[in-house]
Amino acid sequence: MAQNSILLRAVSHWRKDAGDWLSGSFDRLPETVRVNPLRADCDWTEGWLKGIGSQRIAWFSGPGSAWALPFDRGSAQGDVKEILKALHETGRLTRQEASSMLPVLALGAEQGDVVLDMCASPGSKTTQIAEHMGECGLILANEVVNSRVNMLVTNVQRHGSRTVAVVHHDGRHIPRVPESGFDRILVDAPCTGSGTTRKNPDVWGKWLPSGGRSLHDLQLALLTKASVLVKPGGRVVYSTCSLDPVEDEAVVAEVLRSSDAMSLLPVSPLLVGVPGEEGRADWPNLNDDGGPSDEDFPESMLPPKEPGISEQLARCMRVWNDSIDGGGFFLAVLEKSTDAPQRPTPEIQSFLRPEDVKPDPENSPQPLSESMASSIESAWGALPDDLWLRGKRLLLSTPEARVVWESERSRRGGRTRIPGSRWRPLKVMHLGLSAAQLHGGEVERVVAGAARVLGPHLPSASCEVDGALIDNLLEEGNALIEEGHGLEGVRGGWILIDSQNGDCVPVWVGERISLMLGGAERLLLTLQRGLTINQNNNE
Ligand SMILES: C[S@@+](CC[C@H](N)C(=O)[O-])C[C@H]1O[C@@H](n2cnc3c(N)ncnc32)[C@H](O)[C@@H]1O
Repeated sequence: MAQNSILLRAVSHWRKDAGDWLSGSFDRLPETVRVNPLRADCDWTEGWLKGIGSQRIAWFSGPGSAWALPFDRGSAQGDVKEILKALHETGRLTRQEASSMLPVLALGAEQGDVVLDMCASPGSKTTQIAEHMGECGLILANEVVNSRVNMLVTNVQRHGSRTVAVVHHDGRHIPRVPESGFDRILVDAPCTGSGTTRKNPDVWGKWLPSGGRSLHDLQLALLTKASVLVKPGGRVVYSTCSLDPVEDEAVVAEVLRSSDAMSLLPVSPLLVGVPGEEGRADWPNLNDDGGPSDEDFPESMLPPKEPGISEQLARCMRVWNDSIDGGGFFLAVLEKSTDAPQRPTPEIQSFLRPEDVKPDPENSPQPLSESMASSIESAWGALPDDLWLRGKRLLLSTPEARVVWESERSRRGGRTRIPGSRWRPLKVMHLGLSAAQLHGGEVERVVAGAARVLGPHLPSASCEVDGALIDNLLEEGNALIEEGHGLEGVRGGWILIDSQNGDCVPVWVGERISLMLGGAERLLLTLQRGLTINQNNNE
């Protein structure tokens, strides 16, 4: 099918040696993963990967590391399969196709930045950006499709970083919050996926040039909106997993044409060692037989005539499947000039008072009330910064989330000012790291994913214990309370901290001490501590 595909015919218009591309576009992809550097035990994860024969991906330049495993995607077996699944489920690593890691490396987000990930689901790039940000900054991870928002929330929760807020908008109309704009924006646009034949063989039978043209307007509207929302001096990365210039260079050229403030940065110095090709300034428009078409297409789909634009397009990068031994990708890095005029301030026609604005929906994250804050402080003996409440959950986020929440905003093109201290008009579906469970308005227990982050800072909800007690709990699931455990008078949710190595495990203290860990976390701690795995214990 591939030999007779329209896609192969199209590629033969884009490069001379289309046959080489074809031979590198079949094999299943290797399993590739990113190790989360924000986890205290990331060295253990890297050691395990090395131990099963994985190879570091040499061009990966982000924090953490990226690895090619010694088997095809999805074909791990036995214990390796179980451990890989547990490492992914607990956010210690993220399975991600290698070339899909490139846009975030080019984005270069830094700690403290406010970043928009405009088309974010399922979230592999969102979690990668979070690894660049550490514990400060904010990523608005946006997705328009309802079911894909859920997928994004699940993935972001699995990863367990503090910096992500999941929002639900059409990226073309995403509200301007924060008003000052974003430091970085990633537009990983919906596309025809013509570079994904190794992952999605269906593409061979389905891909048509008209598919790219039908997405072009949406892609252009998304990138245009990003160029409006980015701060002067800020950066926008536009990426697709399509090889088709109509979805790639044509979109970028049209944004350069419509905005003097935007220019292209060369991608290759940002991605040293990546086998990419320069963007192109010329391409034929194709009919659905894969041959040149004599139809009239809109100017935005055609190669640019302006030398100032066509010369810049070489700064983009196209990564071909056969050169990277992975999926095909396209990347452009746009920068907004530092002296770009700030958005003209429209004449303000009305100022709304807080009581005139619809409050945020009840299920959106809110800062703690004073009474809730003091109840938590008395339960924990300390009040960690940046806690939020959503339903029966406490969430841990960053100072930048609070700054965005507090800031004033506007609507009707800036003519109506709305006071801050709300998310509206942003629709925030999830925020930060899920930290603790409440019951009857009081803290019940810290959840497993936050035990390591919070445990050492909660004097009235944690204590150091001898590592032998933690070993015993991991093997048996529960233990008798003994003198010397330091748990006299303790009842309910508690965190045990290993006095030798700092491991933190959440427990429930009642008649006995019961481990409160999911199967994946328990499996990994058991392995890390060199204990015997009791299959019955991994619920
Ligand atoms: C290529 S995928 C993004 C992959 C994601 N960045 C990742 O690395 O995991 C494009 C996403 O854009 C979403 N999308 C499509 N139209 C959109 C729009 N108008 N606004 C925001 N997102 C949109 C799609 O539902 C899809 O989830």
